[in-house]
Amino acid sequence: MHSKGHVNFGRKVACVVLFCLSSLVLAAAPDSVYTLQAGAHQALVRAITQDSVCPQIAFDHHAAHPMRLRVAPQVLPARPDQARTDAGPITFDARVCESRWPRHAKQARVAGQTVAAPHRRIERIVVIGDTGCRMKATENAFQDCNDPQRWPLARVAASAAALQPDLVLHVGDIHYRESPCPAGNAGCAGAAWGYGYQAWKEDFFTPAKPLLEAAPWVFVRGNHESCWRAGQGWFRFIAAEPWTPKRSCDAPANDLVADYSEPYTVALSRHTQLLVFDSSITAGKPYSPEDAAYQIYARQLALAQRLMRLAPINFFVSHHPLLAVTSHWSADKDAAGGNPGLLSVFASHFPQRLFPDGVKLTLSGHIHAFEAINFVSDHPSSLVLGNSGSGTDAKLPRAYPEGTTLYPGVQVGEYFASSDFGFATLDRQSKAGGEHWLLTEYSVEGKPTFACQVGQGQSHCYKAD
Ligand SMILES: [Fe+2]
Repeated sequence: MHSKGHVNFGRKVACVVLFCLSSLVLAAAPDSVYTLQAGAHQALVRAITQDSVCPQIAFDHHAAHPMRLRVAPQVLPARPDQARTDAGPITFDARVCESRWPRHAKQARVAGQTVAAPHRRIERIVVIGDTGCRMKATENAFQDCNDPQRWPLARVAASAAALQPDLVLHVGDIHYRESPCPAGNAGCAGAAWGYGYQAWKEDFFTPAKPLLEAAPWVFVRGNHESCWRAGQGWFRFIAAEPWTPKRSCDAPANDLVADYSEPYTVALSRHTQLLVFDSSITAGKPYSPEDAAYQIYARQLALAQRLMRLAPINFFVSHHPLLAVTSHWSADKDAAGGNPGLLSVFASHFPQRLFPDGVKLTLSGHIHAFEAINFVSDHPSSLVLGNSGSGTDAKLPRAYPEGTTLYPGVQVGEYFASSDFGFATLDRQSKAGGEHWLLTEYSVEGKPTFACQVGQGQSHCYKAD
């Protein structure tokens, strides 16, 4: 009896140990946990996990419960589009889970880890753009993804997180790893590539981790996230709207829906809001009014105009700029770097100003550089912030190239530009006469390089050192 008791006790201990071990296995930490700021004041918590179930989430002192499954792991056949000819099947070997942030909740924990909580009042925004490591065979362009000096996203994320933002804005182009690293290239040897999860993880989620955990994010969709490129990952991991088969980029037949997400707003204060506009698939030439894309963008511009009435000051955010100096500028070429597709739609609705009156600032990326342009003509000042990681092929002029015009009727006043890697903050400043914002451009290490007063239609910059 005595020995049997020992056996039973031993079994119990073994069971407890096994239970603990199995619990530990079941409760494997998610790869990424982050908060998205969607429209209509709604925040969403996302978790990406390679576990077989969604992790538990607990808000404030309430009991933990499982997060909802957003989309299950899947291996998808490659789309027939040209950009995917070297990609093969696309493996999403991770579960994406989601929970809505309850309106009055103050804090949340996922699998024991504190999640970035939404701020009611935004004092500081970090802005980054064009962050991935370019690997593209059709352009024979292979960035040194293994070298943090040549692909500095992890350093940018650490420097930006140290500034303790209330919100992070990514102006688009997250995924760049479209082709395998060529044999013998030590700069990118071993780098994950393709449109599946492992490339997304290496190109964004792992290097951006400290910044993902620092504050909620607003993502703007870049051309790299259009359906024929990394659009499937965009909808699984990044898009603030629900994942549905129609809005998944899985089938090209739905691209006229999935390539044009509707605009939405994110409130920064009682006076100011971001207006987020999806320009991912816009063309590099003007549209005609008969084009389906023209008609969709025209409808979305009308919707944006209605949304702009929610606040007197709107910061219009699209990946493609309308008014910017091109990175391929040279003395014998036109310097205009605005997107011709968007310009053809916006100019036909707002021939003078290109934007509705409520737009006091535009923020964009696409050009891998920093630009701040103020206009003598009645156009909202333009910021380009696409210098946070992807190769800076930009060769921007130091001074505005005299004799060139960004668009008919547009007159440039002040022009600041830099082709160095970096990121920016926007800090709210309430003064007599209204709300202003201070834009600070930083080096990768977090050293201020430029500062600009922005937010009321005009901008004024100076060198920070
Ligand atoms: Fe782009």
